[in-house]
Amino acid sequence: MFEIDPNSLSNLDKVTTKHVHLDVAVDFDAKVLRGTAALEMQAIETTKEVVLDSAHLVIKSANVIDSTGKATALGVDTSTVHEVYGTAVRLELPETVGGGDKFRIVIEYETTSKGGAIQFLTPEQTQGKKHPYLFTQCEEIHARSMFPCQDSPSVKISYSADVCVPKPLTALMSAIATSHRDEGDATVFSFEQKITIPSYLVALVVGNLAMAKISDRCAVWSEPDNLEACAWEFAEMETILQTAEDLITPYVWGRYDLLVLPGSFPFGGMENPCLTFVTPTLLAGDRSLTDVIAHEIAHSWSGNLVTAKNWEHFWLNEGWTTYFERKIVARLNGEDSRQLSCIIGEADLQESVCFYGKDSPLTALVPKLDGIDPDDAYSTVPYDKGAHLLYYLEQYLGGPAVFEPYMRSYITEFQGKSIDTSDWKNYLFSYFASHDPAKVELLNQIEWDKWFNAPGMPPVGNKYDERPQKVCLHLAERWVSAAKDSTYAQFSPKDIESFSTMQTVIFLTRLADSAPLNEDTLAAIESTYKLTSYRNCEVRFSWLALALKSNYMAVVDAVIDMLSTQGRMKYTRPLYRLLHACPDGRELAVKTFQRLRGYYHPICARMVEKDLGLQN
Ligand code: BES
Ligand code: ZN
Repeated sequence: MFEIDPNSLSNLDKVTTKHVHLDVAVDFDAKVLRGTAALEMQAIETTKEVVLDSAHLVIKSANVIDSTGKATALGVDTSTVHEVYGTAVRLELPETVGGGDKFRIVIEYETTSKGGAIQFLTPEQTQGKKHPYLFTQCEEIHARSMFPCQDSPSVKISYSADVCVPKPLTALMSAIATSHRDEGDATVFSFEQKITIPSYLVALVVGNLAMAKISDRCAVWSEPDNLEACAWEFAEMETILQTAEDLITPYVWGRYDLLVLPGSFPFGGMENPCLTFVTPTLLAGDRSLTDVIAHEIAHSWSGNLVTAKNWEHFWLNEGWTTYFERKIVARLNGEDSRQLSCIIGEADLQESVCFYGKDSPLTALVPKLDGIDPDDAYSTVPYDKGAHLLYYLEQYLGGPAVFEPYMRSYITEFQGKSIDTSDWKNYLFSYFASHDPAKVELLNQIEWDKWFNAPGMPPVGNKYDERPQKVCLHLAERWVSAAKDSTYAQFSPKDIESFSTMQTVIFLTRLADSAPLNEDTLAAIESTYKLTSYRNCEVRFSWLALALKSNYMAVVDAVIDMLSTQGRMKYTRPLYRLLHACPDGRELAVKTFQRLRGYYHPICARMVEKDLGLQN
């Protein structure tokens, strides 16, 4: 039985890590990192053993270093291997340590290509085609394949690193860059993250990178060819950051930089501290996809300061962040945008509930993850069920005037800590008990067990303002009835000209609910709105999904193009699934995936493989 984290093999109840120093060199030929991880540890209870997480690492040696600097070699036992959680690295200490004792362990190790954290790209896979590239993605349990560690978000560490990379490449990390020096053909970049973070927020990128300054604390990084477009697209990042600070509390991480990755980056964004990673699919050319930036910025508080103790409480990261994201969007673009975003979130939640099944335990807000691979459990449930609960509470307890002071107090109370759902609930009660006791009565009436543990849709619905989506639904209805008598002349590009991205998505999703549409209708939609050539990937994706749901094979080239130029799971997985479900697409889906497998990030490739039934 686990007590702290079902997804870690470390003896978290006996020892904890305070600081990690990584001293690693990147070998692009062998596609590995090689070096040492030095862990400053502290005993919680009496123990003679330290158990660390690892996955697909080669452990060469382990030493404990005493206060005089003397090294004593440790016995290393790597015989416990869990199929999903990796290899436990058992280190036997020379003598028993007692609660509070501090010690330092230095492990010499090397990564292997089987690990899930690092994707190495060949020069051909980059935009510039001249230099290799690598990036890491550690959330949720992949840090253990980058360095041996207590890979649990219940442990918060500060970290520092020296990373040696071949010239002329640049290394960046989720930390403040402190210096760099030449070492022959290589450059050693040094970093320091003084604020304590969970292991999943350690991140590294190495490539031919250039930087454009946005403000005193914000910059955009990308390959040089892309830089101008990236800097333009994300020019509002400082404004978004200030909006978040106004809403929540001051930003504490010093810098907030943005790295635009190559197309195979499997997520929309990843909130690595000081340096958010984003997919290049956000380059819509019209700054219309900055809600992802608002989301990653919001993680600077929810997730990165207040962290879920283990992955069962992931909603504390993503639900709060989605809730904050929408409040930020409301302040920037108006309350209508927030309402639209909530409505889309509700539809996404519904879709996840259908995908897993309404009785699936994985659709609970707080799922049980013992024995489960968090990658398999990943869905919009913690995002949208979590945000749904917080929106519900906001309304139920008296609106933003009541809820916003609580939300700031919650962040202040728990910053620097890792918490679980009962810590969250207890503080909600204690905050209102001392600030507004009448509300406690209301809180007592909530069916908490259902909210946290019941599968399916939330126990109580939210009322969102339907007005901003009316025009989109109305247009969709008109198309559905035009499909019956082929009266397409009534439509023109003007219909959607003033739609926001979210409104166009709602229009297309509503149409997809009526799928399959007939071929003539789809051809008429395409010739009216030219959606296949939309640069905005949210719109293009929603259109392609609608077309595939209708077995409209005229879009196949565009689908294959989208599958070969980006590997963001949000698009890649459904496109493969939908193509595979088309009577004429099955074989093409499998063949295309087999051809492009090497382009995708290992996590994405594995998930698509499962989706297509190519693996269990
Ligand atoms: N932290 C997540 C990404 C993540 C979650 C990576 C779990 C690995 C495991 C990030 O903040 C996120 O939620 N990204 C979203 C964008 C957002 C606007 C919903 C994404 O990638 O689509
Ligand atoms: Zn997130």
